[in-house]
Amino acid sequence: MSQFSESDFGANDYSTARPDYPPNFYDFLSRYHSGYNSQLVDVGCGPGTATFQLVKWLPEFSKITGTDLSPPMISKASELATRASKTSQQEDSQGKQIEFHVSSSTDFSFLQGKSCDMITAAECAHWFDFNAFQSAAAETLSAHGTIAIWGYIDSVLERYPDTDALMLDLQYGDDKLGPYWDQPGRDILRGLLQDRHLDPTLYERIQESHVVARELTSAATQDFPLRITKEMPLSRYLAYLKTCSAYHAWKKDPQNRDSPDPCDELIATIQKMHPELKDLNYKVRVLWSSFYKVGTRRA
Ligand SMILES: C[S@@+](CC[C@H](N)C(=O)[O-])C[C@H]1O[C@@H](n2cnc3c(N)ncnc32)[C@H](O)[C@@H]1O
Repeated sequence: MSQFSESDFGANDYSTARPDYPPNFYDFLSRYHSGYNSQLVDVGCGPGTATFQLVKWLPEFSKITGTDLSPPMISKASELATRASKTSQQEDSQGKQIEFHVSSSTDFSFLQGKSCDMITAAECAHWFDFNAFQSAAAETLSAHGTIAIWGYIDSVLERYPDTDALMLDLQYGDDKLGPYWDQPGRDILRGLLQDRHLDPTLYERIQESHVVARELTSAATQDFPLRITKEMPLSRYLAYLKTCSAYHAWKKDPQNRDSPDPCDELIATIQKMHPELKDLNYKVRVLWSSFYKVGTRRA
């Protein structure tokens, strides 16, 4: 987790190479939510990945605030908000207030004692003290407010199942990125937070669900609202692989100064297996495993 707070962490690359969450999921959230629509707080917002999408897809909220422990992430998010406000894209969110604060997932003091109506945590709750977070969220949410936690992990290339084992080896191999993940966060996310549960004494209408990437091609998962897939040139996929915190830590380890880059090596191996991929502009569809948990604060 600490990698995200380092000033040389690539917040810029992170914001362009990571997948968007599907509009379907925001539609699901909007239909699920039964509380007021004044204030939404997106914790662990990074460069605003979900925050800006929430502005667009949940237009019923009048104010949206992103918070994150990492100052570089918050400065990137603030820069993007300023840039967006100068472009016509911002017409989508006219009249909407967006702001960003450096703050931990349990610190809502920037609300100055006011409550909020939805708290979201995208691709970050595996770093939190889960129970401290859900308790602080329950204390901060207004009656019938929504807590929504979601995330994704372990991508595969849709048309190339013979590369799945290589992907896993890059992420978890002892001689690759395996030792460089901050733990236990990575293992918790790898388990799609299946051992973390919303507390039924704090929340009602709890829904918790997940899907494994390869299952996304089966008809049985077509109704799952958080189907995270993206078509991109192979070069962009390589950039995505390099946004992970373990790669950042691997790069900084002096032991690896003369070692071949494990992400570049993986792509070179895949290119040998599938000659069409020699063209880095060749488009591949990437699928991710994902999960979500939603609950409504008990009144
Ligand atoms: C993988 S990024 C996710 C960013 C964004 N929400 C998204 O959907 O891509 C995880 C973020 O969680 C932040 N983070 C980790 N622990 C945190 C904590 N205890 N409180 C607030 N933010 C935290 C990190 O700084 C990082 O920006």
